[in-house]
Amino acid sequence: MNGETRATFAGRISAVLVAAGSAVGLGNIWRFPYLAGENGGGAFLVIYLVAILLIGLPLMLSEFAIGTATHRNAVGAFRALDKRWVPLGYMGVLSSVLILGFYLVVAGWTAEYMIHSPFSSQVTNPDPQSHVLAFENFVANPWKPVLYAVGFGLATHLIIALGVQKGIERAAKWMMPLLFVALVVLAVNSILMPGGMEGLKFFLKPDFSKVTPATFLMAVGQAFFSLSIGLGTMITYASYFKKGTSVRATALQVTLLDTLVAVMAGLVIFPAVFSAGIEPGSGPSLVFITLPSIFSNISLSALWSTIFFLLLVLAALTSTISMHESATAYLEEEWNLSRCVAARMVTLITCLLAVLASLSLGMGKECMIFGLTFFDSLDYLTANIMLPLGALLTCIFVGYRFDKKLFEQQLYPDCCRKGEYAVLRFLVKVICPITLLLIFVNNLGLL
Ligand code: PHE
Repeated sequence: MNGETRATFAGRISAVLVAAGSAVGLGNIWRFPYLAGENGGGAFLVIYLVAILLIGLPLMLSEFAIGTATHRNAVGAFRALDKRWVPLGYMGVLSSVLILGFYLVVAGWTAEYMIHSPFSSQVTNPDPQSHVLAFENFVANPWKPVLYAVGFGLATHLIIALGVQKGIERAAKWMMPLLFVALVVLAVNSILMPGGMEGLKFFLKPDFSKVTPATFLMAVGQAFFSLSIGLGTMITYASYFKKGTSVRATALQVTLLDTLVAVMAGLVIFPAVFSAGIEPGSGPSLVFITLPSIFSNISLSALWSTIFFLLLVLAALTSTISMHESATAYLEEEWNLSRCVAARMVTLITCLLAVLASLSLGMGKECMIFGLTFFDSLDYLTANIMLPLGALLTCIFVGYRFDKKLFEQQLYPDCCRKGEYAVLRFLVKVICPITLLLIFVNNLGLL
């Protein structure tokens, strides 16, 4: 397929919304707070913000530039630019599929919380311990979470099969502002809870004594996960940008929005965690036990809970769509399959992985891989190894192999900002690779 016949997003606002739809998701609202809670709160936040600015943004610009320069999926893009780098594209597609394997499970949990909120008395239960129990019971159930995960996979499939423009743009357009308003209201509520200030301190006041080399790896891994970079998703999305879409403005706005949502999620979660006496290092269950504690504290709990989890479901959906799309676009364009067949293959594989990941938290708890459940190993392997590695190689590619002029043209098609461009190139060529290498070397014992 060439640039002319390929589908495109309607314009810049669409480009921002769709790319932000991919970025904003469970990574911001589920993964970020639990990692911050496990890694010292404020110190994690500071390292995360630095990682976003120095590595995340330059990488998003780089991926966008590869996408707009080639108008191809991640594998096809590297094939068009320099064949030797095709494996990097493959690793990206594989990362998308593996992430979907556990992401669908968590997305399924949000769907269950949305659906049961109006009908369950649990929503108004003020005892935080009861929410912990309810979550643990649900996750360990042998079939319910599995069905939800597969249901989520099928919903993603439907939207993908409907096509790029119709499906993806519509979903992203109205969800983002609503999610943001809901987060602001909940953050205010949470901060006003008795003892909420303690949580605010934990989240905003850095305590670097808790920082270890692993904290850096987790923070950069989370930055990539949250921005959907290091795996070619943004290459694929940028390949659909309409001619004239500003790559710089889009990357900047998406990064800002994504970071804002993560910080807002922290402001919602931590005050409530401290107010309810929940352990901040509770891990993946953190959000699912904290949010119900907030809702049980406010009037119209069931309504709030339903609306908020609905928004989470939508945020997760626009992210699962983007991962699915990058694998589907690869199969469609590189294997010459029809979109439907390509999408079916991706759905089948990711749903299978999701079933295994979900079961690994219940009846399959005993089967460990390097001391981790299958669910946790998918998360660890992708976010802490594959994405940082993909990011490192992408920096090296863009810094040293990608045609300098072509790169510049994507970012500055009709203006020339030599100073800004020089800073960006320095970040991509020197700062990003060296920092990522150092983090890898420092964590060698853990990998
Ligand atoms: N960025 C998404 C989130 O924060 C997850 C994601 C990762 C989406 C990688 C696409 C690619 O939830």
